[in-house]
Amino acid sequence: MTRPYVLLSCATSIDGYLDDASDTRLRVSNEADFDRVDEVRAGCDAILVGAGTIRADDPRLLIRSPARQRARTSRGLPVNPLKVTLTVTGDLDPTARFFTVGDGPKVVYTATSAVAKARGRLGASAEIVDARDPVDLTTVLADLTARGVARLMVEGGGAVHTQFLTGGLADELQLVIAPFFVGDPRAPRFVGPGTFPHDPAHPARLTETIQLGDVVLLRYALSPRYPGP
Ligand SMILES: NC(=O)c1ccc[n+]([C@@H]2O[C@H](COP(=O)([O-])OP(=O)(O)OC[C@H]3O[C@@H](n4cnc5c(N)ncnc54)[C@H](OP(=O)(O)O)[C@@H]3O)[C@@H](O)[C@H]2O)c1
Repeated sequence: MTRPYVLLSCATSIDGYLDDASDTRLRVSNEADFDRVDEVRAGCDAILVGAGTIRADDPRLLIRSPARQRARTSRGLPVNPLKVTLTVTGDLDPTARFFTVGDGPKVVYTATSAVAKARGRLGASAEIVDARDPVDLTTVLADLTARGVARLMVEGGGAVHTQFLTGGLADELQLVIAPFFVGDPRAPRFVGPGTFPHDPAHPARLTETIQLGDVVLLRYALSPRYPGP
């Protein structure tokens, strides 16, 4: 079965951190870029984040712009993309905004051994899907395809980005670099160690660079499915 087109999106410090090590969320981007991300979200069928990002950031994962919401509904799409997360443990809080904000469906992929726990914790706030043990991203992507997801945006965090990249399951990377350093090894990085298909002998193709105020967007093609030149 063909999998969705997978677009990874993240913002890092100059030294490659997604956040700092504090309890409060570090702003690693600016308003112009948040608006650009809103546009990218509006063009996707689903947005996926790891359970770590839900616990750390409590993101809403909704389209902010009313005009973009209207444009989606006029195309016969739901107002917001499907919300999707991954958890091995099932350790998610049903009061997180992932579950409580927005009318659309939410899907939680978890390991077979954690399905009962996740259903107990989350109740009717999300659909819990058994994605094998260990959770298999290919199974997740096949299930999303069966749900009509043609275009998936992966918004982190680092553990999730690492797996999509090392698994060769990403078609595009949109990487934003903010103009500061974090410099704290306790903070999460964009990716962890691994064997990446795009190594020095097989570099990713840089297709676009856009300056947005004090940040820069780097767009990389990671597979032949990337559209255009
Ligand atoms: N700057 C940015 O663009 C950006 C974007 C997003 C996040 N962030 C930051 O990134 C940090 C979080 O990153 P992170 O690496 O700690 O967490 P993460 O990647 O968001 O989530 C990791 C968790 O996801 C679940 N998971 C990952 N892979 C899985 C798989 N194959 N199967 C099943 N479950 C899987 C596990 O959840 P369980 O532990 O529940 O089993 C794992 O602990 C936060 O500090 C956040 O602020 C930054």
